[in-house]
Amino acid sequence: VDDLDPIPACTSTLTFQNGIFLAPMVRIGTLPTRLLSLEYGADLVWGPEIVDRAIIGCERKVNPTTGVVEYLKEHKQIFSCHPIERPYLVYQLGSANPDLAYQAIKIITQADDVAAVDLNCGCPKPFSTHAGMGANMLSTPVLLCNTLKAMRRAAPPHVAVTCKIRLLPTQEATIELVDKIVRTGAIECLTVHCRTKDMRPREPALLHRLREIVDHVNTLAAEMGRTIPVVCNGDVWDAVNAPRIKELTGVTSTMVARGAEANPSCFRPQGSLSIPDVIAPKWVRYSLALNNPIGNTKYCMAQLAFKPAESVAKDAGTKAKPMNKKQLSALRTGIAQAKTHEELATVFKIDVDQVR
Ligand code: FNR
Repeated sequence: VDDLDPIPACTSTLTFQNGIFLAPMVRIGTLPTRLLSLEYGADLVWGPEIVDRAIIGCERKVNPTTGVVEYLKEHKQIFSCHPIERPYLVYQLGSANPDLAYQAIKIITQADDVAAVDLNCGCPKPFSTHAGMGANMLSTPVLLCNTLKAMRRAAPPHVAVTCKIRLLPTQEATIELVDKIVRTGAIECLTVHCRTKDMRPREPALLHRLREIVDHVNTLAAEMGRTIPVVCNGDVWDAVNAPRIKELTGVTSTMVARGAEANPSCFRPQGSLSIPDVIAPKWVRYSLALNNPIGNTKYCMAQLAFKPAESVAKDAGTKAKPMNKKQLSALRTGIAQAKTHEELATVFKIDVDQVR
């Protein structure tokens, strides 16, 4: 990759504006979560971070029954997606190596399975940072920018390249970094998780720091003759909350992680639906229909917010009475004990033959 070569133009029709997006989440952001999020109002959905070496060398296979596209290595599923989410799907790459990033993006865009590709520069977990990836990329801006340029060169023109970062400890350093990223000309959108690398998820996101960053990117992008929306991530729990955060930060789009992990109907502007009455049974139906790996189904369902207060059936379109604590606990035990999707279906009284 010759870094002096001009950056190819992008012809993607995605604007990344005026939307609410599902954040990238390892293990959680699999097909059922993404399809449920889209059904309930997410405008775009990010897949889980997958590192360059994992996707390189994968074989692409389409399941003729479910339509699911699988990227497999030694019979292990590394990534899966479905043609119906293609216009809204962002593949997130973990990389700290422009050559490997180039190869990885070639693989994932070879058959036009995704609408955009994103570089993870925010993950503080050792599995990402140990190789200089994730949030460690924030302290190697030249490498970060070269990796984005390699991704732009590898992706077909109609596939957008985007980047997700965290805040740096000082506002000055953050603006300096953002400036470099935008000046690459390689990205169509920048997501900022409004926490620093050392902040824990329970600490409130520093949303007040975003407006200045948004203003800087808007001005710089205008000078470059383009639009590069900034997306706000961090403590945006649902669509009901999003307008307040947009007003506070100056963004037009927001991104939700833990809110969607707890309840993928959080994207509904009218408010979330009940987990036990609506979302959990739907999760099982989607998993059955898509043949989702059972381990993943159980993991994701265990993160859903089965709170008594959310068991109220008013939104469910049913006349069922809200479940009491005992019924909810029985449901959770049923999920924990199920070893197959068929057993999960029994817990929710779902007729498997009607779903498959
Ligand atoms: C994450 N996050 C994350 N970020 C990223 O860029 N790539 C990833 O693969 C993951 N994986 C992941 C898994 C899980 C279970 C969680 C909860 C989070 C971080 C996530 O995208 C987001 O930046 C933060 O969670 C902040 O957003 P919320 O949770 O405050 O909405």
